[in-house]
Amino acid sequence: TGMTTLDYGFVNTAATKSNITYIDGDQGILRYRGYPIEQVAKGLSFLEVAWLLIYGEIPTESELEDFDRRIRRHTLLHEDLKRFFDGLPHQAHPMSVLSSGVSALSTYYQDSLDPTNPEHVEISTLRLLAKMPVMAAYAHKKSVGQAFLYPDNTLSFVDNFLRLNFGTMAEPYEVNPVVSSALERLLILHADHEQNASTSTVRLVGSTQANMFASISAGINALFGPLHGGANEAVLSMLGDIQASGEGVAKYVERVKNKEAGVKLMGFGHRVYKNYDPRAKLVKESADEVLEALGVHDDLLEIAKELEQIALADDYFKERRLYPNVDFYTGVIYKAMGFPTRMFTVLFAIGRLPGWIAHWREMTSDPQTKIGRPQQLYLGHAARDLPTGR
Ligand code: CMC
Repeated sequence: TGMTTLDYGFVNTAATKSNITYIDGDQGILRYRGYPIEQVAKGLSFLEVAWLLIYGEIPTESELEDFDRRIRRHTLLHEDLKRFFDGLPHQAHPMSVLSSGVSALSTYYQDSLDPTNPEHVEISTLRLLAKMPVMAAYAHKKSVGQAFLYPDNTLSFVDNFLRLNFGTMAEPYEVNPVVSSALERLLILHADHEQNASTSTVRLVGSTQANMFASISAGINALFGPLHGGANEAVLSMLGDIQASGEGVAKYVERVKNKEAGVKLMGFGHRVYKNYDPRAKLVKESADEVLEALGVHDDLLEIAKELEQIALADDYFKERRLYPNVDFYTGVIYKAMGFPTRMFTVLFAIGRLPGWIAHWREMTSDPQTKIGRPQQLYLGHAARDLPTGR
């Protein structure tokens, strides 16, 4: 009963209430639990942000210490899981490796998967935060053919992750503080974004009372697509193509405006922001700082800036209110840090993990939650009979 409205892409339909993240897309405002993203990005660590999103408040010193200690305790992967990774082809995209690994977690922890049991939820939260970065680094090492390192739990969350990605068995690894604080900031900027496609996926899968690993593995797969998290990888390919073709930025923009098949300005536009994405502003600042501090010059950053300038002055983009989004400048930074392009969306996934967990937990603890089950408008055949004789 009731009226079914058709809403492709859920442009006008709220599927839930939420207390986690606020966005005002017209004004370009983003807040985590009420705190403006600009303050959060500068004033909190990634683990503090994770706690804030999941538990609702900034952690006290002792809460944070305890949280950090419990996450460090869970960084080791089951040795068998390493053999599982070994069985995947080395050309595999790290996002596929990561989603498979997270899905496989539910095969190792079968005794703590009950979404209605608070202890199970707590332990799954810690395991995901601890193990997903390790699996991500594993996917990276596999793709470049290097030996996998074991985590070093004396290091902070971000430094441990950097060492697992860039350290080798041959030499001690020195964390570069510029890289470490820039990565921390980027993870924070990705930590939540209310009901985006991957978070909605996590909620939809979780609404069936599937376990947290299964739900988040589905979220990772939703993030993979180039219209969502995959855009950071696609931006770098686009910038590289523009550079290689030598056609010039203005020509490329013309092709975008002519809607040539498959030609889009990747890293531009957003379903919610009809103004400059506040995250993109902060990322752009970081891009200049990090490249300068690392002494890296990258022509791709110049191409990106020129693209932005030309697009923002152009009526096509003005009329449609298309601005750079979070993915526009991140790739240039990840590249300067030494990450291969195919790892970019994996970094987004690690950043988004606290948000996915927070939404999954908010949903499972909300008594009003119902299984997600959209309607359709049926436009197919009316009832008809099989051919005579069948
Ligand atoms: N380049 C050129 N034209 C665009 C772009 C773009 N990046 N984005 C939107 N448009 C045009 C679109 O063609 C349409 O024009 P028209 O009215 O003439 O048909 C108009 O702008 C409205 O776009 P839409 O496709 O209806 O917008 P949407 O809300 O459905 O899509 C989007 C949002 C993010 C999928 C889209 O802007 C896009 O494909 N952007 C490029 C991919 C990208 O950067 N994604 C990352 C999003 S932010 C972080 C994340 O989620 O990962």
